[in-house]
Amino acid sequence: MARNFTQAKTSLGRCINSGNDLFGKFYDIFLVSHPSISPRFANTDMSAQKALLKNGINLAIMYAEGNPIGASGISRIRDTHSATKMNIEPGQYSYWLDSFIKAVSETDPQFGPEIEKEWRELLQMTINHITSGYGK
Ligand code: HEM
Repeated sequence: MARNFTQAKTSLGRCINSGNDLFGKFYDIFLVSHPSISPRFANTDMSAQKALLKNGINLAIMYAEGNPIGASGISRIRDTHSATKMNIEPGQYSYWLDSFIKAVSETDPQFGPEIEKEWRELLQMTINHITSGYGK
């Protein structure tokens, strides 16, 4: 039985309803999280990128809950982020994850350890899938 990530989903809803710019905050944090990150976004339209990531987070939730649309969406991202395409190194995902958690912690007024645990579990599932495709 696939599990339900209810706490992360309601946390995401609170972030979006808060009127704070979760995805903007995320990129502000992520870009300075390690010197290897900002050069990768030097030519990126960050407002388009925020919308792409919002969709990516929804896919990650679906993927973690066993939804086949989530699985195919995350598999597509796995392909674009692989060594022969965008070449996103597996070691960069820990900065991504910690930055996302920090952005949620600053945006969800009810953020706490249980919500953080659920977010980390669900996002780690997506990271494991994406990074397992790095060398393929
Ligand atoms: C689970 C984590 C991640 C998710 C869900 C994700 C999602 C996405 C999505 C949806 C796109 C749009 C293009 C596409 O659909 O392939 C994208 C582009 C991109 N991502 Fe990621 N990403 C993740 C991690 C990372 C990490 C760790 C880096 C490290 C620097 C990164 C760097 C990039 C870059 C450079 C682009 C292209 C930007 C451009 O078009 O200029 N991503 N990502």
